[in-house]
Amino acid sequence: MIVVHAGQRTSGGQSGGACYHAWTHLAPGRHSGAAPLEALVTDTSLIPLSPAKDDDFPRTAVEPVAPLQRVAPDADTSAGEHEAAMDTIVALCKKRGLIFQSSEIYGGLRGAWDYGPLGAALKDNVKKAWKRAMLQLRDDVVQLDASILMHPRVWEASGHVAGFTDPLVECRGCNSRYRADQLPTNAKGEPYCAHCGDKGFTEPKNFNLMFRTYVGPTEDSSNQVWMRPETAQAMFVDFAHVQLTSRQKVPFGIAQVGKSFRNEITPRNFVFRVREFEQMEMEFFVRPGTDEAWHEHWITQRWNWYLRLGMRPQNLRIRDHAAEELSHYSKATVDVEYRFPFAWSELEGIANRGDFDLRQHSQFSGKDLSYFDAERDERYLPYVIEPAAGVERSTLAFLVDAYRQEEARTASGKVEKRTVLKLHHALAPVKVAVLPLSRNDALVPTAREVADLLRPRWPVQYDDAGSIGKRYRRQDEVGTPFCVTIDFDTVEQDRAVTVRDRDAMTQERLPIDRLPDYLGEHLRTEL
Ligand code: GAP
Repeated sequence: MIVVHAGQRTSGGQSGGACYHAWTHLAPGRHSGAAPLEALVTDTSLIPLSPAKDDDFPRTAVEPVAPLQRVAPDADTSAGEHEAAMDTIVALCKKRGLIFQSSEIYGGLRGAWDYGPLGAALKDNVKKAWKRAMLQLRDDVVQLDASILMHPRVWEASGHVAGFTDPLVECRGCNSRYRADQLPTNAKGEPYCAHCGDKGFTEPKNFNLMFRTYVGPTEDSSNQVWMRPETAQAMFVDFAHVQLTSRQKVPFGIAQVGKSFRNEITPRNFVFRVREFEQMEMEFFVRPGTDEAWHEHWITQRWNWYLRLGMRPQNLRIRDHAAEELSHYSKATVDVEYRFPFAWSELEGIANRGDFDLRQHSQFSGKDLSYFDAERDERYLPYVIEPAAGVERSTLAFLVDAYRQEEARTASGKVEKRTVLKLHHALAPVKVAVLPLSRNDALVPTAREVADLLRPRWPVQYDDAGSIGKRYRRQDEVGTPFCVTIDFDTVEQDRAVTVRDRDAMTQERLPIDRLPDYLGEHLRTEL
C-alpha cells in the first residue's frame, strides 16, 4: 500500500533505463571533465555586472505588510463559512465570458479551460504584476523564456521520469479512475465510486503525470519527448549561460512565466487543478550557508505580493511542510495557502532546493555547473530558493477574494443587490468604462471622443447597451474601477462628465479635460 499525502508527488531517483539514441551522448553519472563555461569565455564584456557586495545575505530586510500567518504542517484545511461559493464564481466567470470550458460546443474537455477577452486580460495582469515585483523592481533577477519541449534527459536528471507520479486506482465496478488520495467519500467517510456507487477499488499503481509526444514524423521511443511539467528545469539547465551573459553574480535569480502540462488524474475545482496551466517560477541561486536567510526573505516577499494586490490577510497563510511531505529535491518548503471556498489549498510553493538540481544536471549532462565566486575565491554549486506560483490558481484566488454581494441604492432610491469584484486596480481587466446615457446621436460623438482620449493610457470599454443601472452592474461584476457617463448636459452645457467609483459608488462631475489627470491620480495600477 502506498501512502501519499494530498498534493505530494512520489519522489524519484534517476532512471538510467530509457535509451534515447538520437540525443544521448553521456551515460548518467559520467562526467565529461569539460571546463566550466566561464573559463571558455575571454570576452571582457561578460564580466559580472553587479558591484562588489559586502555580504551576499539579503541586503535589506523585508518587513511583512501584515503579520505573517504561519501554520503547522497539519493545520486544519477546512474553509469554514465562505461568502463566495465556488458555483457562484464559476457561473459569474461563464456569464461574463471570463473563463469557460474549452471546446464547449463539443461537450468540453476535462481539465482544460478557455479565458475570454476579460479573463485573458485579468490573467495577463496577474502575470504583469508578478513580473513587475520579481523582475522590474529588482536588479538581481533576470528573465528567461525557454522552450516547452526539452531534451528528454532533462527529465531523467530532474527525477520526473522515475518519480513524478500519483497513485492511480480503478473502480472494480465500472473502471472509473481516481487518484487514490482523492477518492470521494460517503457520509460514513467510506470511499465510493461517484459513477456507479461501487466501493471496491484496485490497488494503487504509480501513474506518471507527464504528457508525452514525439518530435519528427516517426512515433518511436527514440523520438519521444515530454511536455514540460514545470518551467523550473530550464532555469537550472541554462544557469551557466544566463549567469555569464547577463553578467550577474550569485546571489541572483532567473525568472520565467510559461505553460506547463500535467496529466492530472482528477482535475477539479474549476481552474485550481487543470492539465494545462501557466507557472510563474523563479530560481534564486545563493551561496550555500546563506540559503536559509534567503528562504525567509522570499517567503516574506511573496506574502507581501499577494497582500499588496489586495488579498485579505485572513484568507492567506504560510504552511510549513512536514519532513515526510517534502519533495525529493527539497531541504525545506512552505506553501502559500489561500482559503478557497472548498478548503485552504496551495497557491504557491517556496522551496529551498539545496544544490539538488545543479548537481543532477552537472552529472547527467557532463557540464560543470558550479560557480566561481571571485570575491571569495571559491567554487561551489549554488543552492536554490524557488518561489513557484500558478497563474490560474492566483487568478482564481484574486477572483474569489474580490467577490462581494452588497446592497446598493439605485438612482431612484431603491435598494438592490449588486455583485461586485473589488479587484485591485492593477488586476482589473477594464480600468474605465465609457457610458453614453443612451444611443442618442447627440451623445455618441462626445462619448467616442472621451473613449479615444482615455484609450492610449488605460484599457477602456465603450458600452451603450441597456439602462445605465444595468451597465453599472455589468461593470461592477467584472471589477471595472471607474465608469464615466456622458449625458445631455455634457454636450449641451458644460462638457463635463460623471465619474462613478466602483467601491464607494460615489459620483463626481468633472470637465472632460480634467479626466485623464483625475484617473491618473485615482487609478492605482502599480504595486
Ligand atoms: N517547480 C516546482 C513546482 O512546479 P509545484 O508545487 O508542483 O512546484 C507550483 O507547482 C505551482 O504551480 C503550484 O503551487 C500551483 O500554483 C501551480 N500548479 C501545479 N499544478 C497545477 C495544476 N495541475 N493546475 C493548476 N496549477 C497548478
